[in-house]
Amino acid sequence: MSFKIPETCREWQARARRIADRYVRPLARKYDRLQEYNYEATKVLAEEGLFRVFIPDQYGGEKSSILSLCLVVEELAKADAGYGVAFAVNALGSFPIIVGGTEEQKRKYLPQVACGKKLAAFCLSEKLAGSNAAGLLCRAERAADGWVIKGEKKWTTNATVADLYSVFAVTDPASKSRRISAFIVEKGTPGFSFGKVEDKMGIRCVPVVETIFDNVRVPEENLLGGKPGLGFKHAMMTLDCARPGVAAQAVGAAQGALELAMVYANRRQQFGQPISSFQMVQQMLSDMAMQTEAARWLVYAAAAAVDNNEENLTKRAAMAKCFASDTAVKVATDAVQIFGGYGFMEDYPIAKFYRDAKILQIYEGTNQIQRMVIARHLVKEANGLTHLEEFIPKETQEFFGADVGAAEQ
Ligand code: CAA
Repeated sequence: MSFKIPETCREWQARARRIADRYVRPLARKYDRLQEYNYEATKVLAEEGLFRVFIPDQYGGEKSSILSLCLVVEELAKADAGYGVAFAVNALGSFPIIVGGTEEQKRKYLPQVACGKKLAAFCLSEKLAGSNAAGLLCRAERAADGWVIKGEKKWTTNATVADLYSVFAVTDPASKSRRISAFIVEKGTPGFSFGKVEDKMGIRCVPVVETIFDNVRVPEENLLGGKPGLGFKHAMMTLDCARPGVAAQAVGAAQGALELAMVYANRRQQFGQPISSFQMVQQMLSDMAMQTEAARWLVYAAAAAVDNNEENLTKRAAMAKCFASDTAVKVATDAVQIFGGYGFMEDYPIAKFYRDAKILQIYEGTNQIQRMVIARHLVKEANGLTHLEEFIPKETQEFFGADVGAAEQ
């Protein structure tokens, strides 16, 4: 595979880095402490056109691609892993419209996100439906003039700040494969309100909130794709597009933690020399750097697979999300170790990386779900490797096609 990052993507990355250095990193501690949203950074990102990076060009985007989105998110997350998701979640909230919206829906909503006028959020998870995304209870029923949504959502990232919400609800409880539909709900719609604001361990600068739908009436034109029953597919397609972005957030978090650990290790003196001169510290730094670099290229490859609509994009997105988030947790943990006792203190910036990293293994599909998705693909791919069957010893082949255990029962 030959892979080169196009110059346009690099330009987006450079722009994001400048903004992150000025408006994200210096404010990271403040907003983490206060659990408040960084409106300054969002305003500047909007003014500098960064929201155009994930919106298709014909709907207000500019040279957009998932790869560019990933490079931007990586830069923001390197400065503040929490702010990385505060930005990326707008892509997650917009992807349902991008992958499943009607032409009218795309024309109406996407340009408003592209110019940063409207922020977006994604309402899928519920108290009783996390990994099992198909097990939703939130209902939407037909009414004379459209639909009425009733129910509650849990862990809506960006809720209260966002203006547009992609909401998944059950429209046909009797159906197995066409049970769910998605709706676009605007903030301020009567009956749509916010519940508990979560007090989180990390990513404290972005609100994660319960969203409540108390007989929320939405017109027919807000049914995503104009047809009911497509919601689950649209949710899965959305997650395929969004998971490389979470993975990029993880790469940014890992890189940010690594760089702080490098600087600290060079300054911190013990036994009369910088701790970076000790082989055990060097080994830790080297491993952290290798793991981060490996994750980075897995993420870029997954982003390119989504951009090119490659057949294996679901598997690649899951691999990138899983590997990069495991890496972020490992690297942030080792970075705290390098900082020693100081690393455990909130006066130092590294503890925040450690707290911010953990959620990456959980949201947008736990890493157990990612491994399940990857394994399902591997099992299917194995069926195509018939040319290898002759290398499996004959004694095993005798049992091919026969479930001996089942026959004995
Ligand atoms: N693209 C298109 N269609 C897909 C698909 C994909 N990637 N994956 C599945 N589908 C389709 C299947 O083809 C199937 O269609 P038919 O019924 O027509 O055959 C249908 O969807 C059902 O598929 P599965 O049988 O695979 O569904 P499942 O219930 O066994 O498993 C799952 C699906 C992978 C476990 C899924 O539920 C999942 O990804 N769960 C995790 C949920 C998740 O990631 N939540 C994150 C919430 S968002 C968040 O966290 C964001 C935040 O706060 C920042």
